[in-house]
Amino acid sequence: MNMQSLRTGMDISLIAAMGNNMVIGKEGKMPWHLPDDLQYFMDKTQGHYVLMGRKTFHTYKKIMKDHKVLVVTNQKHFDGEYADVVSSIEEGIVKAALAGESELFVSGGAEIYAQTLDLADRLYLTMIRHDFEGDAFFPDVEFSKWELVSIVHHNKDEKHEFEFDYLIYERIW
Ligand SMILES: NC(=O)c1ccc[n+]([C@@H]2O[C@H](COP(=O)([O-])OP(=O)(O)OC[C@H]3O[C@@H](n4cnc5c(N)ncnc54)[C@H](OP(=O)(O)O)[C@@H]3O)[C@@H](O)[C@H]2O)c1
Repeated sequence: MNMQSLRTGMDISLIAAMGNNMVIGKEGKMPWHLPDDLQYFMDKTQGHYVLMGRKTFHTYKKIMKDHKVLVVTNQKHFDGEYADVVSSIEEGIVKAALAGESELFVSGGAEIYAQTLDLADRLYLTMIRHDFEGDAFFPDVEFSKWELVSIVHHNKDEKHEFEFDYLIYERIW
């Protein structure tokens, strides 16, 4: 079966939060606590399939029980609990497409973003206006190939130590 034809009618969107220096994680976690961004992630992805790597699933699994999660792993007998376990990114994409999904969200981590950026139609990037130390990075984006279609600023406040912007980019195919 041809993956490109299966994708007809289904957009692939990457959703990620990152620092100015593209850091997305440190020692398996996100090095910030921004509750409104977490809520933004939950709201955007609610009702859609969300594809993530096994390591990210480990971090997110408690809060994603109401989501349709696809976990990617090479492990033959991985227990995904409530999530669907797939053995490749392609298998996850096909599964979502066959289920009639209109927008598949890819929620990381670094390994999975790197392998899906070239397939993406849309990027939901929360740009946190701070340089973080970390060991996981979002891949380089050639922004000349993307159109910024939305930007919403969030100020610092008592619950949010850093200011940030919610950016949405659409690919110029
Ligand atoms: N800021 C954000 O928005 C955000 C979002 C998500 C994650 N993160 C951060 O990113 C970091 C985790 O990223 P990561 O790169 O270490 O791990 P990851 O991408 O979450 O998961 C990597 C795992 O996915 C599986 N995998 C990857 N590619 C595969 C393929 N092609 N086929 C089958 N399985 C595949 C492998 O699992 P097995 O080893 O089981 O085979 C691999 O070890 C954490 O720090 C996390 O907090 C940040």
